[in-house]
Amino acid sequence: MKVIAINGSPHKDGNTALALQTVGEKLKSNGIDFEVLHIGHKTIHGCIACGQCREKQDHSCGIKNDAFNEFIPAIREADGIILGSPVYFSGMAGTMKSFLDRLFYVSGSNGNYFRNKVGAALVCARRAGGSHTLDGLNHYLNFAEMLVATSNYWNIIHGGASGEVLFDKEGITSLQVLGDKMSWMLKMREATKNTLPEPERVQKPMTNFIREDLK
Ligand SMILES: Cc1cc2nc3c(=O)[nH]c(=O)nc-3n(C[C@H](O)[C@H](O)[C@H](O)COP(=O)(O)O)c2cc1C
Repeated sequence: MKVIAINGSPHKDGNTALALQTVGEKLKSNGIDFEVLHIGHKTIHGCIACGQCREKQDHSCGIKNDAFNEFIPAIREADGIILGSPVYFSGMAGTMKSFLDRLFYVSGSNGNYFRNKVGAALVCARRAGGSHTLDGLNHYLNFAEMLVATSNYWNIIHGGASGEVLFDKEGITSLQVLGDKMSWMLKMREATKNTLPEPERVQKPMTNFIREDLK
């Protein structure tokens, strides 16, 4: 089994990377493969709502002049994902938002890569905006019908300069708990895959909140 982490920070060795590694160490100690995809330093355009992912259903985004599409195969194969972002102005980093909007739209248009897989999110903040940012990341996991792994606190770790998060002992402990919980969920899922059928997929009636009786 493999978990892919997406690092939305421009710093490959910064606080978000260290936070993801903390979860990853636990996953690895539980026998689960772990890899970090660093996307935060790349130029990733925002979704332009061209609808090509839906029309073509070829597991790719219609924007071809950036690095986005090269990340899809590994993410698609993974048994679990972790979304990690630094807090920027009380929200996720802009590149991460662009990446996730496109990833979850391509996924949703191509059968949903994430449904009933295990997902988790974490954020790094110097001081404030962590809860709001964590909520934002969790929206993607919830939308995609993932099994969301939790910890014994919200997955927010504090630090400003790169490396400072390692001094946030409570934050580090929470992320270690998250790594163990995620491992356990992955193993439960694997152990029951032949004995416990997944809930059936339900087709959403796309009402756009328009009431038929008022037309
Ligand atoms: C553009 C920008 C905006 C930021 N906004 C916030 C913020 O709203 N709240 C906060 O606590 N920290 C904020 N920070 C600090 C980072 O979240 C913090 O330094 C984080 O640990 C960086 O993670 P990294 O090392 O993975 O990049 C901001 C940093 C930058 C560059």
